[in-house]
Order: sequence, then structure tokens, then C-alpha cells
Amino acid sequence: MNSISTYAPGRAELLGNHTDYNEGYVMALAVDRGTTMSGQARGDRKISIHSREMDKTETIDIDKLLAEHVSPWSRYTLGVVDQFRRNDLPVEGFDAEISSNLPLGAGLSSSASLENATVLFLAKLFGAKLDSMQMARLAQKAEHDFVGVRCGLLDQIASLMSTALHATCIDCRTTAVDYVPLDGKTRIILANSGVKHALVGGEYNERRSDCEAAAHALGVSALRDASTEMLKSRKSEMADRIYHRALHITGENERVQEGSAALRKGDFARFGELMFASHESSRVNFENSCQELDLLVATARKTPGVFGARLSGGGFGGATINLVEKGREEEVVKALTAALPGVTCLVTDAADGALAYAKSH
Ligand code: GLA
Repeated sequence: MNSISTYAPGRAELLGNHTDYNEGYVMALAVDRGTTMSGQARGDRKISIHSREMDKTETIDIDKLLAEHVSPWSRYTLGVVDQFRRNDLPVEGFDAEISSNLPLGAGLSSSASLENATVLFLAKLFGAKLDSMQMARLAQKAEHDFVGVRCGLLDQIASLMSTALHATCIDCRTTAVDYVPLDGKTRIILANSGVKHALVGGEYNERRSDCEAAAHALGVSALRDASTEMLKSRKSEMADRIYHRALHITGENERVQEGSAALRKGDFARFGELMFASHESSRVNFENSCQELDLLVATARKTPGVFGARLSGGGFGGATINLVEKGREEEVVKALTAALPGVTCLVTDAADGALAYAKSH
């Protein structure tokens, strides 16, 4: 049988933290590493997937798919298969090998890259016709149902729909996506703190519930509909923790809007200040940072050549994203490594998302 191969990159969140499931605004990009899935149809009802990095194989009958019957690493892939079945999309037995050059648990969304590689793989192998937003939603739903993280759409959209050398701006209510050029004067450094972040179940879902509680207290359908000014005037109507969680979200939405205007003007200095402000709000209001991420951001702040830095993604560990003047990458990596031995830095430009990548390969 014919073998096929698909690829989807990881992503980094440039600005707009935890705004996606609050129907707000976010800016992201795809990185130049990701997950590849290769394989072929079997002609029966069995699925066998092998992870090259983990050297593990999972084999299951497609009619017996349940998250609790399979090992955690395979749920990202098998959750997508499950979504194909629930949505009456064509899918049968297959063999596949998964390989990735993304660090796992580093906040670069190895999970969405695997989900997206799987969506593309199944669509190509079994002939499902899906538009890009349907693909992103299938991948997201797989994560909700099979992995148990109630994530927004940021990771899936950024990994699928990004364009090289651009920031991807997403309106998470309308799902409109547009692109702002990151001109040739900047580079991105992703500094992996080495603190493992596992979003599964715990604090991520708690933050989401807190945001929903805040929206409820304010009488809006999502925090997208609240401004910082409105929130401050109604502080007494909610518990202090809920207020601070909401303050992070309203501030982030406002920073993204200001940030995308600054980027369009090529004002990297202003954009960088907004990145630092975003991190500070994560640290103080949303409490999704940790000592190591704070140290990396504080170091970046003191290092010449850095426009801005902040934690990227869910938080509680993982990586910081640094927007850096082109040509000064080496100095910045040195400063970050001296401050936090064990940090690993990935220097990247904004890369093509899976769809653009597939067109050019
Ligand atoms: C994780 C989730 C995303 C988003 C970010 C925080 O990456 O998967 O949906 O909520 O955290 O912005």
C-alpha cells in the first residue's frame, strides 16, 4: 500500500496568554521544528502507531477506541481518530510511525503538532475534505476528550495556519486569522527552562474555570466582553482570586491589540515592553509562572538586544519567548544560559505552519 507522510510544527505564543478560551485575541507563530507522521492504510480495522522517540508501539482495534484503554502518549493521535469517527469522516485501520524533533513539555505545543500531523495524515490517507478551521477544531476536540485538557484553539490554529516570517493574529471569537510581518530585523529565541509543564487535568483547567467564574460574575458570555476599566469598577463583586485571573485576561487582550498595532509600525521596542508586561501579569495575577521562568525573563530584561520576553503557552514551566534583535542571538543565549544553567535555547524564525509547509514540500 502507498505510504504517506505529514508534518506539523510546534508553536510559540508571542503575546496573549490564556486569552484563547476567553474568546479573546492572541498572536503566535510556528517554530521550525515539529512532528512527522508516516505510514499507510492496512485494509483492516487495526491501528498500530509507533513513537520513534519513545520506542513504544500502541495497537488497538478501531472499534474499541477509548482514552482509558490506551497509553497517554498515544491519546493525541487516537483522540483524533476518535473525532474522525464521531464526525462520520472516513477512517480505517492504519500503521504509522511518529517522530518529532520538538522538545516535549517545553511549552512549544508538541501536543498540537502531533494532533495536527494526525488530522492531516488521516485526511490524506482516507480522503476527508476538511477546511483549515475544521481541522483545528477536530484537533482541539481530541485534546478535550482524550487528553482531558480544555484548551483553546491557539495551538492548533498557529501550528496549522502560520506563515513564515509573520506573526499569526487570531481573533478567537470569530476565528479570523491575519498576519503581521515580522521584518528581517528580529529573531525568536525560545528558552526552555527544563521545568516540565504538564497541563493534563490540573492547573490549566482550574484557570479556565476561574475565568468562567469571572465572566459569570460580570454577566458577560466571555471575558472578551470585559475591559480592564469595567473589571476594576466591579472588583467588589467577585473573590480576589477571580478578580486577578480576569485582570490578566483583560490586560492581555488590550496588550495584544496595542501590540499588533505596534508591530505593524515596526515598533519592536513598544512590542517588547508589552511582552514584559504580559509576563509580569502572569507572575502576579494569573500565577502561572515559576521561579525559573521569572529568572529567564528578568535576565532577558537586562540583556542588550532583547526587545521583550515572557512565558509562552500554558505556563507552570516550559519556555520563555524572547524577541531579539537580529545578530545578537548569541549574546542573548549566553546570558540566559549563564543565569539558568541547564536552559536549552532554540533560535528560530517564524516558520510556515503545516498547511503552508505541505504546499511547499
Ligand atoms: C496552552 C493551551 C492554549 C492556550 C495557552 C495559553 O498552550 O493549549 O489553548 O490556552 O496554553 O495561552
